[in-house]
Amino acid sequence: MSPMFVPGPVDVAPEVLAAQNQAMLPHRSQEFEEIFRRVSEKSQQLFFTRERVYLTACSGSGLQEAAVRNLANRRVLSFINGAFGNRWYDVALTNGKYVDKFDVPWNQPVTPEAIFEALKGDSYDLLTVVHNETSTSLQNPIKEIAEAARSASPDTLIAVDAVSSLGGARIEMDAWGLDLVLTSSQKCLALPPGLSLMAVSERALQRAQDVPDRGWYFDLLRLEKHRLKDSSPSTPAMSLIYALDVQLDRILLEGLENRFARHSALAKSVQSWTLERGLGLYAPEGYRSQTVTAVENLLDLNITELNACLMEQDMRIASGYGQLKGKTFRIAHMGETQLADIERLLTALDAQIG
Ligand SMILES: Cc1ncc(COP(=O)(O)O)c(C=O)c1O
Repeated sequence: MSPMFVPGPVDVAPEVLAAQNQAMLPHRSQEFEEIFRRVSEKSQQLFFTRERVYLTACSGSGLQEAAVRNLANRRVLSFINGAFGNRWYDVALTNGKYVDKFDVPWNQPVTPEAIFEALKGDSYDLLTVVHNETSTSLQNPIKEIAEAARSASPDTLIAVDAVSSLGGARIEMDAWGLDLVLTSSQKCLALPPGLSLMAVSERALQRAQDVPDRGWYFDLLRLEKHRLKDSSPSTPAMSLIYALDVQLDRILLEGLENRFARHSALAKSVQSWTLERGLGLYAPEGYRSQTVTAVENLLDLNITELNACLMEQDMRIASGYGQLKGKTFRIAHMGETQLADIERLLTALDAQIG
């Protein structure tokens, strides 16, 4: 592997890459359906759910679209404190939904209080919120957000984007009362891009029945009909499912608790280094991501030059995202990354910073 400290696509373990080399099967065959069932069932553990998990051939944005197409008859409320919350708002808007946005400063969390106030006395079908804002490295308190949403507006469905956190940070779909949680392959799951996973609650599935114009590709009722036959409506991303099968075994062998602890230790190490070097942490204390760190570039480092040096040593970091480009750079610590990898990166950065 060549350590890529960028927030996706991340490095993929050789045995996981190799798993894709298996022969293709007819997707309506018993052999493939057996694999599809096994992988769907194992995936439930990632979400801490007994609800259904769909495996879809698309990137994360596709499932943002699936959520708004299926779960909102009319009104959506999108909370935005980063670029991907904003994308979800755009996705809802461009799918013809009546969507309100609630903007929060990008360096501040979405609070349960704000959620409660925004939902109270109103009638939104769906709330969209991002768990781990990859653009800012801020982790929103989803458990508390969901509690507040349920008490302010019990009928509003809660959809969570966990694209850059699921498998690296805890997110408990059932215990926290979430209706839809989505993620994609190329981040904490450390798979090649192109496969996305979505866990959906029973009441969300019921809601979809009342929503017209759900489209075809992401129609939850169609996905469910096929899932019950251990299959998907359209041709699945077979090679990626082979890879996910192997990767889930690796993840479960490491243990989810150990995996979360490893990500947390990596984050702490990057955060300490950042502050010790006189750089800043964009996300506030208590809400810092354990999978990626946005570093405020207080030393005016030239990130392009820095990366050129790192790439000579087979490493790379990411520049700031969207409106934070130039002001921040990002160090991802997700997927296969180990403490020794981070130490090597930080030593190389020290050599450049001087
Ligand atoms: C939190 C979050 N949501 C959504 C997306 C969009 O995912 P994709 O580019 O896989 O469509 C990303 C991509 O980085 C992301 O980080």
